[in-house]
Order: sequence, then C-alpha cells, then structure tokens
Amino acid sequence: MSDVTKRVRVRHFAQAKAEGTKIVGLTSYDVLSAGHFDQAGVDFLLVGDSAGQVVLGHDTTVPTTVDELIPLTRAVVRAAKRALVVADLPFGSYESGPDEALHTAVRFMKETGAHAVKLEGGVRSAEQIRRVVDAGVPVMGHVGYTPQSEHGLGGHVVQGRGSGREQLMADAKAVEEAGAFAVVIEMVPEDAATELTKALSIPTIGIGAGRHTDGQILVWTDLLGVNTGRIPRFVRTYADFGEQMRRAVGQWTSDVRDGSFPGPDEIFED
Ligand code: KIV
Repeated sequence: MSDVTKRVRVRHFAQAKAEGTKIVGLTSYDVLSAGHFDQAGVDFLLVGDSAGQVVLGHDTTVPTTVDELIPLTRAVVRAAKRALVVADLPFGSYESGPDEALHTAVRFMKETGAHAVKLEGGVRSAEQIRRVVDAGVPVMGHVGYTPQSEHGLGGHVVQGRGSGREQLMADAKAVEEAGAFAVVIEMVPEDAATELTKALSIPTIGIGAGRHTDGQILVWTDLLGVNTGRIPRFVRTYADFGEQMRRAVGQWTSDVRDGSFPGPDEIFED
C-alpha cells in the first residue's frame, strides 16, 4: 500500500490482497505515537482495547470501557493524516446483540472520527457485524485467540489447533459473510492462517499467525521495547525505548540533583 499517498481506505485493503501487497497495522493510543507511526507509513492504526493493559495497567483487556477508549481514539484520529484509524469495541459493548453493537459503533464514528471499528468473535458476532456494516460502518473482524474471552479460553492459548481448526475456519468465514472488510487472526498455527488466507476473499491481518497472512499487526509497546511485562513469542522487538527512557530520565535526575541542569544555555537572562 506504499503507493497510497492520501487517506488509506477500506478499498485499498481489497486492492492490497488482490495485488499481494502486505498490509501493515500497529496499535496506537495517543497523538504523539500516532503521528510518528503515520509518518513511518503504517497503513492502519488500531486504537485497541489493549489500551486497558498498555495505558491503564489492567491485567487483561476485559475491564476496558467505551468511555476510556473514546478520548484515546480522538487523539489518534487527530494525528493520522494517511493511516486508516480503526476503533476497537471493548468487551461488554456489543455482545448483547446487533442493536448494542450498532449503538457502540455509531458512538465511535460520531464522537471520534474513526474510519472503521473492530470487534471480536466469528460465528457468535456475525449478526452484530452485519448490522454495523449495513449501517455504513466498515468492520474489521477478529478471530482465533480473542483477548476479551481470555478467561473463557483458559488463558493466552494458541487457537485453531487439531479439532479447533474447523471452528476457526467457520469463524473466519462467518466474519467474511457478515460483510467485514478484513479480519485479524490472532495466535493460530501458521498453516491454519495460510489456509484461511487462501480461502477468504477479504484480507487477513496476522498477529502470531505466521508469515503468509495478507498483513501483520503488533502492539506498539511490544514492537518498540517499552512494555515492561511479558512479551509474546511472536513479537520481534525493533528498539529498546524502555531502556533509553530509563537511561535518559536517570541522567536528567542526576543532573538536577548535582546542579548541572539547568546550565547556562537553558536559562533566561534579563
Ligand atoms: O487490542 C488490540 O491491541 C488488538 C490487537 C492485538 C490486534 O486487538
């Protein structure tokens, strides 16, 4: 998609799949990181409910709320000049049925300026996806490991293995048939993701789903080494910003303490 110079649109996702061009997504939860990632050429920014963990310090995404995500999504939208911004519908904001899903999706679209929404679940969420899509809101699906169901799934466990393969295929097909423009496939064996990518007409965006999906997404704090918690095996860390932040702030702290900050160039004169 690097040839798209204006706003990335959902039609560019379909085009990328047809041309075999990889789609690149990254999470973002604030204006500064969104601006950097947008300028770096990321195709879409996901304001994930992972904000509940990354920004707010919860153990899982389950407690994340719509009211917490709305201001973060607004900030990302303000910074994103090219990237398509996807707002994640958090747990408890769409499961009751299509009406609830539409109500939440409309809130995100009207109150934040996001360009699309994402929600988790395949067969179980198909009616919700259909209702939101019919109202004119692009939907990204999310199957395989779905973090909002962490407790139901029995922890952070690879999905689609053995007899789970059939359910995974049915979920992804249900998302496609409900009208989603793309689907995130999280933590599944590479051959299952490859089979799905061939079977679906919509692009697959992998996270822990191997090398052959139509695109990839990661959580930015994992990618750039800011995360202080567990780093999943499927992540490659490209920078150690956490270490750089600790070093820089440690240096400034010691400069303040020994009187070497501020120096003569950092003061105002009469
Ligand atoms: O919330 C999130 O960050 C996500 C990604 C893991 C795809 O859903």
